[in-house]
Amino acid sequence: MWNDRTDEYGGPLENRMRFTLECIDAIRKNIPAGMPVFVKFTPYHGVPGGRELDEGVQMAKILEAAGVDLLHVDVGCYEAWYKAITTVYSDQGHQLPIVKAIKDAVSVPVLGHGKLFDPALAEKVVEDGTMDYVGLAHQMLADPDWANKAKAGHFDDIRPCIGCNECLKAGFSGKHYYCAVNPQCYAERDYRLPAPLPGESRKVLVIGGGPAGMEAAIAAADRGMKVTLWEKSARLGGNLWAAGNPTFKHDVLRLIDYMRTQVLKKGVDVVFGKDPTVDEIVAFGADKVILAAGSHSLVPPIKGIECAKTSDGYLLGTEKPGKHVVVIGGGLVGCETAAYMAETAEDVTIVEMLPQILMTADDCLNNSQNLHAMIAERGIVCECGAKVTEVTPDSVTFERDGEEHVLPADTVIVAAGYRPNNALADELDGRVADLAVVGDAEHPRKIINAVHEAYHAIRVM
Ligand SMILES: Cc1cc2nc3c(=O)[nH]c(=O)nc-3n(C[C@H](O)[C@H](O)[C@H](O)COP(=O)(O)OP(=O)(O)OC[C@H]3O[C@@H](n4cnc5c(N)ncnc54)[C@H](O)[C@@H]3O)c2cc1C
Ligand SMILES: Cc1cc2nc3c(=O)[nH]c(=O)nc-3n(C[C@H](O)[C@H](O)[C@H](O)COP(=O)(O)O)c2cc1C
Ligand code: SF4
Repeated sequence: MWNDRTDEYGGPLENRMRFTLECIDAIRKNIPAGMPVFVKFTPYHGVPGGRELDEGVQMAKILEAAGVDLLHVDVGCYEAWYKAITTVYSDQGHQLPIVKAIKDAVSVPVLGHGKLFDPALAEKVVEDGTMDYVGLAHQMLADPDWANKAKAGHFDDIRPCIGCNECLKAGFSGKHYYCAVNPQCYAERDYRLPAPLPGESRKVLVIGGGPAGMEAAIAAADRGMKVTLWEKSARLGGNLWAAGNPTFKHDVLRLIDYMRTQVLKKGVDVVFGKDPTVDEIVAFGADKVILAAGSHSLVPPIKGIECAKTSDGYLLGTEKPGKHVVVIGGGLVGCETAAYMAETAEDVTIVEMLPQILMTADDCLNNSQNLHAMIAERGIVCECGAKVTEVTPDSVTFERDGEEHVLPADTVIVAAGYRPNNALADELDGRVADLAVVGDAEHPRKIINAVHEAYHAIRVM
């Protein structure tokens, strides 16, 4: 697809493999005898015009004949980067059929990867002969103790990767890899929590049980402090529930499971249904108050907007869409809502004011590519550069380039962003010993900000 050379490095497969084979040869000559050489290669690109599996199998045989000791199978390419480097939307084990096809074609050991973080699945694919070795990339950033915890059967303690690719985005922006759920990633020595002080008795009060609140509670408990968490609703998780409920995004629910388990295991005193007053917070007498109360959905001032509902209920499944759905807003939440609604509705349209959808998402390219592909595959219509001017019980009107368009709709969903829920911050200022506002309560953003800010607020105590 990309190699259009006409010399001995282009054209037939043996020419296109020449460079790789020369590299293998040169490496062999420069390493001690007996040191194994592994080759990671891509037998299937997964894009029109790309490499198909037949050729990939031939490549495997050529590499085996060249004396390679192990084949590491990859899938995808930059044009479909999400097929190579998995995203939150990828299915677990999504590369398995390709790995198996290579395994069946050669007798050297084969290493596969692609969302194999579930220890039971990792064990199964080795036992059933799909591959000889399991490779884990993301999951080892999220929890470098994965193997030890899996071996010990401590599955609940594995900090799960949520497929957000903040790691990759950081790496490709010239920073060290960050991990959204593991603040110590790439900074294990420099950014660890201080060890508990002898006789530690400080009290931490956390308000809000989303990822920010849970992370603060876990970190404070790890430092030996006495932690209380007040959560307004009846469950921990906050917006992770809306983020993770769509069928294609359950990885996020795994983070709730993990964090909730740790909060409870570490003895945090969790009080549900608690929407405290300022006086109650002050009277509690905490050494530090963490305000992690999240955000509220924004509802733009559009004529008839009361005929629409915000996305949360539809994402959580408490609201059911009709057949003709219009989503106002084509950011991450709007696009995911549209993709989820398309599983049951007859038609779904996104109306976005900006020239394209997902311009505000600030996600890694492979996640955006993946979501764009889902929007296209699900037949969702995107009306961009379009300003909604009116909503009625059965229509949405938008304006573009001075022209008015009317879309019939029995369900209108607003996904127009969030505003911080930080009213308590001003009132608490100067009335508590120490206050940190973290996560979306500071400014609505992402899980990485919620988790890292919360960890930091406790780390510096
Ligand atoms: C649909 C959707 C999809 C998303 N997808 C992603 C994604 O893919 N990747 C990503 O990184 N981010 C995503 N986000 C953003 C991410 O979910 C938020 O950034 C994150 O949840 C913020 O965490 P938080 O703890 O600050 O707030 P929240 O998760 O909002 O939690 C706040 C908690 O505080 C509680 N609370 C509120 N007021 C009070 C009070 N007065 N007293 C006590 N408790 C209170 C709430 O009930 C809630 O449990 C998504 C958000 C949404 C809505
Ligand atoms: C942050 C990050 C950086 C990566 N960099 C490379 C790379 O430089 N070369 C490469 O071949 N694969 C790279 N990968 C891909 C992984 O090696 C692996 O093939 C892929 O992530 C699928 O495995 P997983 O689902 O266990 O993450 C990277 C993956 C991540 C998450
Ligand atoms: S940053 Fe996100 S995708 Fe990368 S390892 Fe951490 S949780 Fe997984």
